Amino acid sequence: MKVAFGSDHAGIELKLFLMDKLKEMGCEVEDYGNYDPNDRDDDYPAPGRRVAEAIHEGKAERGVLICGTGLGISLVANKVPGIRACVCSEPFTAKMSRAHNNCNIIAVGARVVGRELAWMIVQTFFETEFEGGRHARRVDMISQAERDYSRE
Ligand code: RB5
Repeated sequence: MKVAFGSDHAGIELKLFLMDKLKEMGCEVEDYGNYDPNDRDDDYPAPGRRVAEAIHEGKAERGVLICGTGLGISLVANKVPGIRACVCSEPFTAKMSRAHNNCNIIAVGARVVGRELAWMIVQTFFETEFEGGRHARRVDMISQAERDYSRE
């Protein structure tokens, strides 16, 4: 599976750790920046958008986003059509975000969770399949809301 990674300056260290872990799991990983902890111009909306667009364009199947809280970077990702990004601070929500919501991006806060918990969260996200069925109808309703407000 191809996985796009993105972070702002606050999330670089955790991003590199999680990239190695997913690579060990057999995923193909790509870093969409930010690459430099001193680069404050590449703020969270830029890498968040690049990762979301990579998924929208079919260059990656899933994404992992990291900023201080996971909030800003997930908010921007959710503006890109077809993206369902969730912030998770524990594994149960990460599991449900796949099983019920078919999320394609997980976001974590580097200032919220330690790296071992972050890995547990991300690993759970990647090991859980979408259950479909009644959940597919609900996810379709999310997509319909997006289409209703889209100028595309
Ligand atoms: C940067 O200081 C911080 O605002 C950012 O990493 C993130 O937490 C925003 O949501």
